[in-house]
Amino acid sequence: MTLRNICIAFALVFSLSACGDDNNTSENNNTGNNDTNPFAGDAEAAAAGKGIYEGKGSCTSCHGADGSPGMIAAVDLRGSSLSDGELYSKISDGVPGTSMTAYKNSLTEDEIWQLVTHIQVNF
Ligand code: HEC
Repeated sequence: MTLRNICIAFALVFSLSACGDDNNTSENNNTGNNDTNPFAGDAEAAAAGKGIYEGKGSCTSCHGADGSPGMIAAVDLRGSSLSDGELYSKISDGVPGTSMTAYKNSLTEDEIWQLVTHIQVNF
């Protein structure tokens, strides 16, 4: 490799990593994948989450009352290996290209964390 090629390689790596940094800014969602559940293990929050899950969230229609793979959602919410923040994001932002829609406009941040607690505590 000539010195010139090495310089080009460095320039490429540097510009790629610079692009990566730009993509890290999240615009309208303060809750990232690294956030921890503020209600972790809280029985009251889990009960509130159960109410939303079976009530206004209508989660049961796709996930069943117990989070087992239902008619529409093939994923199993029981014993999920997703982190707090990952569960939050999937509910808040939805999963693009699937019938899992975003709930950030219909549920508050606390309500979404209550749902996360319900999934973690009751399933
Ligand atoms: C119209 C059907 C539908 C409804 C209603 C629905 N979901 Fe989903 N959900 C899905 C589907 C389908 C997936 C799988 C997406 C994929 O392929 O990754 C999913 C994925 C998820 C996941 C990610 C699971 C994983 O392991 O990746 C969570 C968490 C979740 N849903 C929670 C909820 C909650 C909480 C509600 C109610 C507020 C809800 N869902 C309502 C269809 C639905």
